[in-house]
Amino acid sequence: MDKAKKRVFSAIQPSGTLTIGNYFGALKNHVAMQEDYDCIFSVADLHAITVKQEPEKLYTHTLELYAIFLAVGLDPEKSIIFIQSHVPAHTEFTWLLNCFTQFGELSRMHQFKEKSKTHSDNINAGLFDYPVLMAADILLYNTELVPTGQDQKQHIELARNVAQRVNGIYGDILVVPEPYIPRTGAKITSLQDPSKKMSKSDSNANAFISILDEPDVIIKKFKRAVTDSEALVKFDEENKPGVSNLMNIYSCATGRGIAEIEKEFDGRGYGDFKMAVAQSVVDALSPIQAEYKRIISDKAYMSEKFAVAAERAADIANDTLRRLKEKIGFYI
Ligand code: TYM
Repeated sequence: MDKAKKRVFSAIQPSGTLTIGNYFGALKNHVAMQEDYDCIFSVADLHAITVKQEPEKLYTHTLELYAIFLAVGLDPEKSIIFIQSHVPAHTEFTWLLNCFTQFGELSRMHQFKEKSKTHSDNINAGLFDYPVLMAADILLYNTELVPTGQDQKQHIELARNVAQRVNGIYGDILVVPEPYIPRTGAKITSLQDPSKKMSKSDSNANAFISILDEPDVIIKKFKRAVTDSEALVKFDEENKPGVSNLMNIYSCATGRGIAEIEKEFDGRGYGDFKMAVAQSVVDALSPIQAEYKRIISDKAYMSEKFAVAAERAADIANDTLRRLKEKIGFYI
């Protein structure tokens, strides 16, 4: 690893097939960052069990997510790409950080409040403690930048607060991370209800585009996307959230700016516009899908890559863990 480069860490939960929200909000930027940063990426399987998981599904989704990581262009030769539960330091570090995190600050987490509503039959301690596990993920690796979508900002703030608190007691031993949130794509919303973020766990499959959706499915979902009655392609998140979301998606898929998109569709109806957005997404996803099909059939290749990555990750993580344990006063 190149010491002159800034350390980047991010992770994604294997809680279902990824959406274009995950791709445009996070993964696409992760791929781009590999050139200039010292990157570590993880399949956050420990996070996934904060909601009920069927064992076979968790197992399959974990492998599928690893294959998607490689298919989009995360490169195991350039970055450390590992499975979170393969590095036990994450759970041990979480325990230490728990003792420096206040009940009150965890109670204020938006995601906890939302998930407590959607999973009201299973508001477990892990769901409450989830942001501390995420802080452990980040802080174990001396992370300077955390690239995510907008929805993770509050969790990164918590990680910063915990790091500063620990440093305040024991001296500067943890690196205080910065969020790194893209300008476009940070919040791709549901195609059916643009007031909600696009989510892979949405019960309505028309609300999201999965990275692995077939072209005809993608086109059908965009045709059904909620817009408004104005027939005007104009960016206005407050009054035209559906259209603005489609413009954001089109911008992410084509690299075109918002003003350019408004000009392109000036005087054209929503039918044309939706088809163009759909086609741009089909074009962006098709090379990824082809690569995914190739990689998912080669489990031996993936196993070799994540085994090596876990060792490299554990070396870094165990060092941070040991330093904090020493400071706290554990007899090591
Ligand atoms: P997760 O698995 O929900 O989402 C993975 C990444 O995708 C981004 N994202 C979106 N971006 C734009 N629009 C959307 N609709 C959208 N939906 C999701 C998320 O912001 C995220 O970057 N807690 C994290 C996983 C995690 C993590 C970490 C992230 C665990 N440990 C340490 C960073 C650092 C999560 O649930 O992401």
